[in-house]
Amino acid sequence: MRPGGRIRAVLETQIDRSQAKPALYRDLAASLEALLAAETDALANLANAGALLAQALDRINWCGFYLLRGGKLVLGPFQGKAACVRITLGRGVCGTAAARRETLVVPDVHAFPGHIACDAASRSEIVVPILEDGRLRGVLDVDAPEAARFDEEDRAGLEEFVRTLIPLVAWEAL
Ligand code: SME
Repeated sequence: MRPGGRIRAVLETQIDRSQAKPALYRDLAASLEALLAAETDALANLANAGALLAQALDRINWCGFYLLRGGKLVLGPFQGKAACVRITLGRGVCGTAAARRETLVVPDVHAFPGHIACDAASRSEIVVPILEDGRLRGVLDVDAPEAARFDEEDRAGLEEFVRTLIPLVAWEAL
């Protein structure tokens, strides 16, 4: 395939959003790999990763990345309404997932103590920490406008998405 052909192929392929979640997330990880593997620019790759996720997932209102900078989570590439920029570790869903270094699935954000409301439409949320060889790089955050949007299949699928993403991004360069 000529240079760029793989990327064009991904851009032209629509992930079937109606398929069962395990198959959807398998397609998503494969598209991510194909889209990012040929590019070395960290910011471009992270931006495309977020855009791919927004294209693949239905019933969400925000998805994107917070990056660990100077000990805080700072807003990175995202899709959705403008959002809060800096989050202290241990605060909100993002800061708690980052501090605990574990995925948080929050079925009702209003019931989560200290939830940071960026988009008032958000009702449920999932946050996956990004750990490269044990080093915290940031988090992936996805919000939905309906309660309990995310289940164990989303957790497994988004953790797989992040595992695929980690070696494809030069985190030091961000
Ligand atoms: N709700 C998040 C803040 C980020 S926004 O949802 C984009 C939280 O509580 O950490």
